[in-house]
Amino acid sequence: MGRMIAPQPPATPAPSRTVRKAVVPAAGLGTRFLPATKATPKEMLPVVDKPAIQYVVEEAAAAGLDDVLMVTGRHKRAIEDHFDHAFELEQALAAKGDTARLDAVRDPARLADIHHVRQGDPLGLGHAVLCARNHVGNQPFAVLLGDDLIDPRETLLSRMLEVRDRHAGSVVALMEVDPAQSHLYGCAAVEATGEDDVVRVTGLVEKPAPGTAPSRYAVIGRYVLEPAVFDVLERTPPGRGGEIQLTDALQRLAAGGTVHGVVFSGLRYDTGDKADYLRTVVRLACARPDLGPGFTHWLREFVAGLPAATAGPEDHHRAA
Ligand code: UTP
Repeated sequence: MGRMIAPQPPATPAPSRTVRKAVVPAAGLGTRFLPATKATPKEMLPVVDKPAIQYVVEEAAAAGLDDVLMVTGRHKRAIEDHFDHAFELEQALAAKGDTARLDAVRDPARLADIHHVRQGDPLGLGHAVLCARNHVGNQPFAVLLGDDLIDPRETLLSRMLEVRDRHAGSVVALMEVDPAQSHLYGCAAVEATGEDDVVRVTGLVEKPAPGTAPSRYAVIGRYVLEPAVFDVLERTPPGRGGEIQLTDALQRLAAGGTVHGVVFSGLRYDTGDKADYLRTVVRLACARPDLGPGFTHWLREFVAGLPAATAGPEDHHRAA
């Protein structure tokens, strides 16, 4: 006889069994955002009222990663201070009884156990990841680029951790991009698996010349890496742009058949790119319960009053 099955609540992602540490590279020069990034790391540019890198650390914490290593370079003080206590400010706010702002000041330091390592010279993303070797040890770990923001409503990292728990090896995040934009990304050659959003990565190429990308899949700034990547990075010579490229090391791992990709079709923003940064601020401001209604009202009127314009190249940007 048939049995009634009670409806189940939607499954919340189980915390990864093996991955506990996140590495956040934030030592790049940020030349695309000069002069704002002359004396401030681009990861500290505000997105509404929090620096971009705080969203990234919040994402790591939400996925259960409670140990976060920042790889910092010049101007590291701003990042260190943001994730530390601010005694004078806290005292002043406490004296006023301003608990909301006091919490906002204290939150960054409470998100995770935060560590810092210095990259020295910005020799490339691969080199930044290699700087994390001593801290990470012989465990798989996540890498979240400090200027690459996944919308806080998405659960990409949890999905990647779950895929890593099942397949071992490394997992990269992939997004379909317009082929005209492929030369801006690392691009992946892929094979299907039995799952719609999971592919096997058979090859990777950093910023392919126009028309040569192996697929429409571009690597975006989330990775779950096996510790074997460190040995590969040690042996990886400078590649494109004279930088030690993480993509080149991942290409070696992919050739060994140990890399999977999670295909992401949600909202992702490159806050190191000026036009994308502006889109990020607008989108996240509209989604904020406190600011959204008033800001959206203003935005509608502002847009309605704009003269009709022809689209520029930036308007074809896929990811935002
Ligand atoms: P980007 O590719 O955006 O490079 O780095 P960039 O040099 O910072 O920026 P532009 O192109 O000059 O504007 C992606 C991520 O890797 C970090 C950056 O801080 C960013 O979070 N990164 C890059 C490092 O930590 N070290 C490096 O040597 C290079």
